[in-house]
This record gives sequence, structure tokens and C-alpha cells, in this order.
Amino acid sequence: MANNAEADYIERDAAHLIHPLHNRAAHSGGKVWVAGEGAFLIDANGDRYIDGLSGLWNNTAGNGCRALIEAGSRQLGALAYASGYTGSTNPRAIELAEKLAAITYPNINHFYFTSGGGESTDSNIKMARYFWKLKGKPEKIKVISLIWGYHGVTLAAMSATGINAYWPMFEPRVPGFVHIPSHYPYFYETPEGVASPGIAAANELEQAILAEGAETVAMFIAEPVQGAGGVIVPPDDYFPRIREICDKYDVLLVSDEVITGFGRTGKMFGLEHWGVKPDLIQFAKAITSGYFPLGGIGVSDEITDVMQASGKPWMHAYTYSAHPTGCAIAVAMLDLIEKEDFLGQAAAKGKRLLSGLKAALGDHPHVGDIRGLGLMCGVEYVKDKATKEVFDAAEGIGAKINAATMERGLFSRARGDVYCIAPPIVTEEATLDQIVEILADATKAVLG
Ligand SMILES: Cc1ncc(COP(=O)(O)O)c(C=O)c1O
Repeated sequence: MANNAEADYIERDAAHLIHPLHNRAAHSGGKVWVAGEGAFLIDANGDRYIDGLSGLWNNTAGNGCRALIEAGSRQLGALAYASGYTGSTNPRAIELAEKLAAITYPNINHFYFTSGGGESTDSNIKMARYFWKLKGKPEKIKVISLIWGYHGVTLAAMSATGINAYWPMFEPRVPGFVHIPSHYPYFYETPEGVASPGIAAANELEQAILAEGAETVAMFIAEPVQGAGGVIVPPDDYFPRIREICDKYDVLLVSDEVITGFGRTGKMFGLEHWGVKPDLIQFAKAITSGYFPLGGIGVSDEITDVMQASGKPWMHAYTYSAHPTGCAIAVAMLDLIEKEDFLGQAAAKGKRLLSGLKAALGDHPHVGDIRGLGLMCGVEYVKDKATKEVFDAAEGIGAKINAATMERGLFSRARGDVYCIAPPIVTEEATLDQIVEILADATKAVLG
């Protein structure tokens, strides 16, 4: 419950601010963050919380990282901003693109920068449609994505997002967007006669392409691990089969690496786990660890070659594309990821967190599934573990768990009844163990 300094701020906040996912009633007990130290957030009353979701999955380096602060400050002093429109560029943007070319999938060597994830989704949709027009297939415009996928909430990104709570207030959605079931291993029901749930779930894409007509489908977009949808890790054979289907029907594979990019899963990019190369990628969040709003797309050589040969301008642009300050921070962040072995850290710490969660919560009668890859985990609560019957949404179990963890000093988010955990990669092991203890205690308090 907000009190004293925090309560004063919340009252002033209510007078003028509209928030993402604005909800006046929920916000009245909200937090006011005034400081951060590594993996901890400090509120206006001076109370410390573990930053269980790295801000919004982005702040992998934690707060107070000198290398990022100094890189941003230096660049602000030298050149805070200059246009990145064609005809203008800056050294930091060039360095960032060079570094990305070295670390992304080998077929991806060109980059367009945005201010975040949703703009990156829009940019990839426009890039895919543009590519097919240049290839003489202007009818290839449709976008297929997964239920439980989250790709942002601009009107086009919202239409690709497969969490239906985001739609009704703003419909009609953009036409030409189609959703297929998620591979969701905990709930996916494999049809009879198919040996593997991963192959069966991937084949849903083939069925959708055939139903829509392959000549109308531009791209399939998916997160390597579905994040905001509840940390859903695909079976190992899922993405290799998706790649085959995309190749067979001339459909571009777009990997949304906004959460999985830059080490979160223990690899630099998520599809590396399964040896799959996408045609387009998108990234944001951890590329600056949240110190500056910067995102972007990475484009395959095949698509770039077609674009470069077109001889016409690509009529897509953002004022803050290739922002020198954002790019300077991103360059420093990529150095940090390498120097501090973020990939190795995320893999090792993720293992510790996941095994800790399984040991502490695995036997609980209302914990149906505990899953994760690298340093992103999800704990799924169900009413009946044997039948996987879910709780009535009105019971608000996820929200209650969340409130109970807050009371114990852990700040994160739940998607429905899935509690999501993705702390900064710099989180100390003792703090990871504390996350496990707090969640186990909170679970006991809410569900016995
Ligand atoms: C996978 C993914 N894509 C896109 C987005 C949208 O990013 P933004 O909120 O920066 O628009 C998010 C945000 O959480 C995301 O997780």
C-alpha cells in the first residue's frame, strides 16, 4: 500500500498522467521508483525491491552501470542528436551496425534502427511487403503469428500480437493478419497420428498458409521464446520445421528477438538454440539495457540485395532512427555483453533459478508447470494439476501472487496465472535464491 512520499506522488500522478495499460484503480496502490542499484529498485519511501523482470525484460545490465552512463554522457556532450535520414549518418550508428553484423545470424548484415519493439514490428511488416512487391508478388501481404505472441501495440503490431485482451477496444484490426495456435508445450494437444507436438504445432503454420493461399502470405512472425505471453519455450523441433515450411511456401520468417536478443536465453539470439536462420529479425530492450529507447530490424542479404537494386527510396522513416546517443549506449552495451560474458552468465544463472524454482515449487498442488530458457522463467498456476484445469480468471490468482511477492520485496509481472521472472543478468546468485524463496512463500500465502 502506498504511503507517505509514495502516496503524495501517486496523487499528483493521477492528476495528469496516463500510463501504458492505464488502470486508475490498480494504479492507486502503485509504486513510485526513484533509484536503482544493480538488480534492485528503490521506491519513494526508501524500500528496496528485487527487479524481478529487469524493468520490462530490458535492463539486463541493471541500474547504475558506469559503462552505459558514461557512453551516453560522452555522446550527449559531443552530439546529442542528428538526423539519420538518408543523406545523413553518424559514427555511433555505423559502429553499432558493424557490431550487429558480426553478432547476428550470418545471413543478416544490414540494420534499420527504431525507438522500440512495436516500431520494429511495423518496420518488418513494411519491409516484408516491400520485398514481395519488388519481387513482382504484390499480393503477398498477409502476416501470420502465434496466439500468445506479443509484438507491441501500434495498430499493425497489435494486429500481429496474439494476446486477444489487447484487441477489443481498438478494433477493427488491420486486415490480413492471421493467428495460429502456439506450440505451448504444457497445453498443446497433439493430434492423433503425429509423433511430435513440436512438428504438429509447426504444421499449423502450413495449414494456415494453405488456407489463406501461399500467394497471399508475406511473413510469419514469432518470438523464439514467447515472453509476455507467459515464457513459453518451444519444443526443440518446432523452429526447424517452421523454417522448412517458410522455405516451401516462400514466406519470410521473422524472429522477434525483442526479449530474447542479446543474451537473455544464454545465446546472443534465440533461434541459435535450434540452428535456425530467420530472414528478418527485430530487437529492442536489452540492446541498450533500457538506458535509451532504441530498437531495430536486421535484414537478410537476400532482402537487402533486392532493396538496394530497386533504385527507389524506401518511404519509411522515424525521427529517432540511428539516434547518436542511443547508438553510443548500444555500442557500449554490446562491449559489456562480451566483456562480462552475459551469455554464459544468463545460461548458468538461468539454470540455478529454474532448478531452484522446481525444487521449491514443483510439488505444490497448484503449480502446473515451471519452465524457462536462460534467465527467463515462468511458473504456471492451475486449479487442478492432474487435469490442467485453470483457475477462473475472476479469482485473479496471478494478481494475488504478484501482490504477495510485492509485500515480500520482489517486483515482477504475471500474465494471467503465469508468474514471469527475468531478472537482470547481473543479478547475484544469492538474490536469485531469494527470488525463489519469496515466490515459494508467496505461493504458500495465497494457495496454501
Ligand atoms: C517480443 C516483443 N516484441 C515487441 C514488443 C514491443 O516493444 P515496445 O513496447 O518497445 O513497443 C515487446 C514488448 O514487450 C516484446 O516483448
